[in-house]
Amino acid sequence: EKGGYDYFMLKEIADQPDAIAETLLGRLSDRGEIILDEVRLTDQDLRDVDKVFIVACGTSYHAGMVAKYAIEHWTRIPCEVELASEFRYRDPILDRSTLVITISQSGETMDTLMALRHAKEQKARVLAICNTNGSTIPRESDAVLYTHGGPEIAVASTKAFLTQLVACYLIGLHLAQIRGVMYADEVAAVVEKLQSTPDSLRTLLGQMEDVRALARDLKTASTVLFIGRHVGYPVALEGALKLKELAYMHAEGFAAGELKHGPISLIDEGTPVVCVVPSPAGRGVMRDKVVSNIQEVRARGARTIVIAEEGDEGVRAYADHLIPVPSTPTLLAPLMTTVPLQILACEIAAARGLDVDQPRNLAKSVTVE
Ligand code: M6R
Repeated sequence: EKGGYDYFMLKEIADQPDAIAETLLGRLSDRGEIILDEVRLTDQDLRDVDKVFIVACGTSYHAGMVAKYAIEHWTRIPCEVELASEFRYRDPILDRSTLVITISQSGETMDTLMALRHAKEQKARVLAICNTNGSTIPRESDAVLYTHGGPEIAVASTKAFLTQLVACYLIGLHLAQIRGVMYADEVAAVVEKLQSTPDSLRTLLGQMEDVRALARDLKTASTVLFIGRHVGYPVALEGALKLKELAYMHAEGFAAGELKHGPISLIDEGTPVVCVVPSPAGRGVMRDKVVSNIQEVRARGARTIVIAEEGDEGVRAYADHLIPVPSTPTLLAPLMTTVPLQILACEIAAARGLDVDQPRNLAKSVTVE
């Protein structure tokens, strides 16, 4: 049932192109519009939304962090992301025109469920992004958009994350479309890129041999740092979470621009720093800033592992190890850049002789607060 792979996690990583394609299936028209008829909220309800909150835990929270960039950029509606375990305790300002989106693979996470109940009590509209049909969170929500990732067995979330991103992109584009913030051809252009991600991912997955070799090299590191900017920041956090969770190693993710405000003192001779580089497309300002952050850590002895878009030859000079990923529009880039980090964590854990699918102290679904 592991489909010839050593671990469920590796199988689930390999399933990601199909999982994305399944999540898109039936939700796009021939003209490149988003069809979300299954979401039981009327267009008028969605037009009335003046604020979006996304609440989730762990990896699903990282999907929410990425979604904030996309939703605000496309819809111009303010969007906040919050850890479900913190949400209700700070008495967030919610009313009928607030849309609260929960993201949960299992649909049973107690922190997320309690946040949802709190939002409902405050009369907010509640939409669940969930991978598990009929689970508690979608049952208690006003509306649901299922990710069609298929069952995820490994404790570490992989294909659920990428399909959650796809669901968030669909919601963002749908909101932008019905509110008239984006022209039909602009939505169609993003949709076309989304539709090409499964093929790009298949190509990327075929090029991961180097990452396996790198994992063997890094298995004795005492810490691994991850840096990124914009949507690369949640990707950095996700890379660090995976490594902690699976390899029991100290790992931490930072917004690249924050390094100089403290964390750069952690860099010592040989400290591995995984750098997620934004696309050089457009003006490439963010990309250039991350490249200077890479130079800064390298000057202090870091060993740099650089994830950058194919063809970005300029980064090569600063990379001790370069992992090229297929070109994607900036907001969709986490669909590519996350994958080498999943494989890195999985392979480091395997090289350390650990139980990849069932790390210690963790459960697949966390049903206590
Ligand atoms: O089922 P959920 O998406 O609500 O679960 C949330 C987290 O517990 C989950 O993403 C956790 O962080 C993963 N084990 C990370 O790989």
